[in-house]
Amino acid sequence: MDKTIPVKLDRIYFGGDYNPDQWDEKTINEDMRLFQKAHINLVTLPVFSWAKLEPEEGVYDFGWLDSIMDKLAEYGIGVNLATPTVAQPAWMSRKYPEVLDVDIQGRRRTHGMRVHFCYNSPKYLERARAIASEMAKRYAKHPALKLWHVANEYGTYCYCPVCRGKFILWLKNRYGSIEKLNERWYTAFWGRTLYDWEEINLPDETNDDFRFNPTVQLDYLRFVTDSTAACFRNEYDAIRQYSDKPIQTNMSGFIKKLDQFVMASNMDIVGWDNYPWPTQEMSFVAMKHDIMRGLRGGQSFLLAEQSPNQQNWQPYNVLKRPGEVRRLSWQAIAHGADSCLYFQMRQSRAGQEKFHGAVISHAGRDDTRVFRETEYLGRELEILSPHVVGKRTKAQAAIVFDWNAWWALENSSGPNRDIDYLDGVHSYYKAFYGRHISVDFVSEDADISGYKLVVLPYTYMFRPGLKEKLDSFVRNGGTLLAGALSGLVDENDHVTGEFPGALRDVLGLRIEETDALRKDCQNGINMGGREYPCRLVCDIVIPGSAKTLGCFTKEFYAGGPAVTVNEYGCGKAYYIGSVPDTALVSDIVAKIGLSSVIRADNGLEVTLRQDESEQTLFVINHTDAPLRAELPEGFFEPLAGQTVSGSTQIAANDVRVFVRRITA
Ligand code: GLA
Ligand code: ZN
Repeated sequence: MDKTIPVKLDRIYFGGDYNPDQWDEKTINEDMRLFQKAHINLVTLPVFSWAKLEPEEGVYDFGWLDSIMDKLAEYGIGVNLATPTVAQPAWMSRKYPEVLDVDIQGRRRTHGMRVHFCYNSPKYLERARAIASEMAKRYAKHPALKLWHVANEYGTYCYCPVCRGKFILWLKNRYGSIEKLNERWYTAFWGRTLYDWEEINLPDETNDDFRFNPTVQLDYLRFVTDSTAACFRNEYDAIRQYSDKPIQTNMSGFIKKLDQFVMASNMDIVGWDNYPWPTQEMSFVAMKHDIMRGLRGGQSFLLAEQSPNQQNWQPYNVLKRPGEVRRLSWQAIAHGADSCLYFQMRQSRAGQEKFHGAVISHAGRDDTRVFRETEYLGRELEILSPHVVGKRTKAQAAIVFDWNAWWALENSSGPNRDIDYLDGVHSYYKAFYGRHISVDFVSEDADISGYKLVVLPYTYMFRPGLKEKLDSFVRNGGTLLAGALSGLVDENDHVTGEFPGALRDVLGLRIEETDALRKDCQNGINMGGREYPCRLVCDIVIPGSAKTLGCFTKEFYAGGPAVTVNEYGCGKAYYIGSVPDTALVSDIVAKIGLSSVIRADNGLEVTLRQDESEQTLFVINHTDAPLRAELPEGFFEPLAGQTVSGSTQIAANDVRVFVRRITA
């Protein structure tokens, strides 16, 4: 049951991680002046300060934090108050070595890094809960408190004896009997029959199950997610006893390790850290934001971290170009973020991240390029905040995105080791992005009945209920677009029957064989006289009631169906039996006929957020040439103080935000 609280922030939060443990009072006072100058209204702290706040077990010293919080309140700056539980104090690792995690090779880690605890360790959980309670009791009514931030970027796997014991319990709970477990884990194959629960091991490198046994690995990943969610929840519940402010944790980049739908269902608001690679396509970054928006059914999320300039941990830490941080920040907001938070506010003088970009650099000046850009953006956010916060995206299309399907597909041995779930999803997403069509990401459990189109890229694993839901969606007039390898296995990674398994009826075809292509090879698909490249896998499709729309151009199956459509009930189901080029998906999307937000040149990113009374339109030019967008009547541009309509030039590297009242 979702026990979280509904959230609407009071403004766009602007600021980020601040680690004043390092600074003297003079520096902190100067920071307050600089924060105000840059329109900073929220800082996240004290993320890593457990050692400072609890120098001895049960002995707390909050004096330092009290004075920082008071000072921030005095300057009108809010606090995203972090429990410091991602880096336990050295005394704890020494006194209770079992709080340290065990790695995949079976080695107990020694104290040193951060995120080096076992999320199932009773002692860790006890101490984390204790400090979270102390903080909640102390600061619940503090005027600076706006949000809670639990720990930081969860995402370890632990292979310790405690985790093994918990895994066994988790399995007992899931399967009830060892016979059922044997059946679900398909232990008849390779003679893996288990006679007793005690014979279960964690899938680590000592047994290689993490590489070779997909069902065991799947259950382990589910178990790690549940354990991590419980570890978060341990602190959530402690805080909630005293405070009614929203509670979240910042999820790492965009990770495969944890099912973020499960994590998010435990959080009041989704928070995530966006660190795109310099070469990453903007559509890929947009997709990640849309996925994050999907985690809690379309609610606003927090951009919990991004870098105000270069990173230090990438191989080549390219400077963010002038205007780039502004574009990336508005991009996040355009896709549903209600904050723009940085790592970090002041650059650390030493340690692991001394070269990482910060709003205030080592120079401590307010006339640097980065500071000036921050100040400029802060002013814009302040003006536009009332037109943004809480507004939602309305989409006619939904892409099914599922961590179980991701894990299962990539863990499966065959058909092609180069299959990359995110890359496959992106090939589809980009078609919508390029056509300026909004799209939601939904889990396999979501209600899809309100959409016109549902897309299944690489939805290899179907969890219970999905087949029936899709069948009735199409019967009732919906359109389905399914990609290769979809619908093949059930939630235990067992093949359900003749391919494409759960999708056989709705797609009106069967797949006899699937060819695998090397990374550097392509086949082609001829559809309507145009040839599109395709990659990685090619299905040999035998149509039943489906009609062929496009055929492969090479290999012994040249001329065989590659793209099909099946009339099913009142709807239609399309299938692409390969990993398509975006142009092919785009042409199919055109046939389906969804409306774009507005007409705009290729290369512009266009999104719309709205509520009952107002629409806010975001147009972002990620290119270095001016482009044009066609603005409908009635839009006003608050930043420029002008009304804009018709064909409008959007300068290179620029972001434009327009608002329009909705009249009944
Ligand atoms: C992560 C962490 C931060 C910081 C940044 C640097 O997102 O949460 O503490 O290390 O990376 O990019
Ligand atoms: Zn453990």
